[in-house]
Formats: sequence, C-alpha cells, structure tokens
Amino acid sequence: MQRIAVLTSGGDSPGMNAAVRAVVRKAIYHGLEVIGIKRGFSGFIEADMWPMDLSSVADIIHRGGTILRTARSEEFKTPEGRGKAFANVQRFGIQGLVVIGGDGSFRGADIFNTEYNLPVIGVPGTIDNDIIGTEYSIGFDTAINTVVDAINKIRDTATSHERTFILEVMGRESGYIALMAGLAGGAESILVPELRYGIDEVCEKLIHGYKRGKLHSIIIIAEGAGSGLDVGKQISEKIGLETKVTILGHLQRGGTPTAFDRILASRMGAKAVEILVEGYRKHMVGMIADKIVASPLDASFKGKKAIDLDIYNLANILSI
Ligand code: F6P
Repeated sequence: MQRIAVLTSGGDSPGMNAAVRAVVRKAIYHGLEVIGIKRGFSGFIEADMWPMDLSSVADIIHRGGTILRTARSEEFKTPEGRGKAFANVQRFGIQGLVVIGGDGSFRGADIFNTEYNLPVIGVPGTIDNDIIGTEYSIGFDTAINTVVDAINKIRDTATSHERTFILEVMGRESGYIALMAGLAGGAESILVPELRYGIDEVCEKLIHGYKRGKLHSIIIIAEGAGSGLDVGKQISEKIGLETKVTILGHLQRGGTPTAFDRILASRMGAKAVEILVEGYRKHMVGMIADKIVASPLDASFKGKKAIDLDIYNLANILSI
C-alpha cells in the first residue's frame, strides 16, 4: 500500500481535525502518501482532493469543525455517483480510504467497498454517540460539556426566578447526549427516545420537587423524544406551571474539542491507519474498555445502540 485518502462526512464534530491530523501523520510515519478529500463523498465524486503533508495538519488539533469540510452527499447514494468516485480512485491511485463520520457515512463506505473492493476504515465522529462498536464517538464529550455549561447557566436564572426550564438537545434518534448531560447537569427529568415517558409522570416529579422546596426544575429532552416546546405546553396545560424552553441546536456541534476528544481522535485516527496497513478491508475503529479496537464496519449500522439503563436509573434516583 502506497497511497491512502481521508475524508470527513456527515455532521461535523469537535475532534475531527485531531483525527485527520492523526491519520495524516501516522500514514506518513508508515511511509504512505495521503490525499485529503474535501466535502466528504461530494468531493470524492468531484475530485476535490489534494496531497497532504505533515504541515498541512499543523495547528488544527485544538480546532472544532473540520479543515476537510464535510457534506451529506445524496449523489453518493446512487450507483452513478459511486461510479464517478471510483473513477477518481483509479485516477489518483488511492489504495485505501479512511472515513471519519457517523453511521450514514459508514453505510456509504460499506457499499463502496462491496462494489469496488477498496479497503475502507471508519473512524466514528459524531456528537450523537449512536454508533455500535464504540463506547464513545469523537465529539460527544465536547458536546455534552457544552450542554452542561448551558445547564449551569440556565440553572442560575431558573433558581433566581423559581422557574421550570426545558432544554432540548441534539442526538437525532439517540438519547445519549440528553442522558449524559442530564446526569452531569443534575436535570430533574431526562426524556429520551429509547424510553417511553408520560407527561403525567414528568408533572408529578415537578410537583413533588417544588413541594419539598426545590427552587427550580430543569427538564432535558432529546430531539428524538419530541419537541421541548410541546412538552412545555403540555406541562402548562396540565398543572398551570409556566415553562421556559431553550433549544440548543447547532452550538452543540462547535467549539474547541475537549482533551478527551483530542486523545480519542488521535488514538482512533492512528489505529485506522495501522489496521489499513495490516490489511483490514472493511472495519471501523472503536473504543471499548479504554482500548482502541477494530470491528466489522457493517455491525456499526445494523441495529441501534442501546441506552445505558443503569445510568438512566441513577440519574432518576439522584434527581429526586
Ligand atoms: O448527527 C449530528 C447531528 O447534529 C444530529 O444531532 C442532528 O439531528 C443533525 O446532525 C442535524 O443535522 P444538520 O446539521 O444537517 O441539520
């Protein structure tokens, strides 16, 4: 193997740059040439790519976003689009591809490998932490720290006004951001798509809290579990409590990556190159029990990552 390529795809996540840096520098360490593909699979199709050297990834380890840019390519979902990408594989002599992104990007890489036999390695980069095969994805830690920071700030005003706040967070169909930020932020209720919740139960908890002297309440809802505005309306209608709703949105995707995310990204990016060199053809890297391990790429998107029920129950007990 002489030349590999790297791209970032799907929603950006803090730490992707640290992963790109690790891929490029570890590949050069192994004597490989690296091509950087811009705008994910869109740039793959359009030949938007250029050679990367050691200094092309200097001064990026601390930056959010991705210097390679990213996209969600509709064209790559078509055989014609993938055919154009393969023409570029041949044109540029690419012998292996590292895809940094989420499960949608891994799905695309998996099909491409099946059709054209190009070795592909996935590096999980998404704030959602919804990928099977890894306990953490790159960007999740930074995102939950951003949410916890927001909870801290909202708590100040919630206490001062003795108000009920609802905070809607990202996560697509996953409740991981809500769950972990909710535990770390001491939220009274955590609503996630993986578990059914009843508005009566949420209201009872609110009333119980206020009766025992709580000055405020914070409810955190994952976007996949419903709308924060709807929940606020239902609470007001049921128990006449005024609620304030904050939708955090895309600010959860930005910002300087935490040390945890930089370390994770550096280890995962380096491991991706290592296993490419060793001859793995369709795998992803993941962190299990603090070790970076390889697992089959298709296992990452067949099925849904389960929520950690022990953590959910603990958060409930502690927020009483
Ligand atoms: O997958 C990351 C994520 O931020 C999800 O949490 C969210 O649902 C989605 O991307 C938003 O996507 P877009 O930036 O395309 O609106």
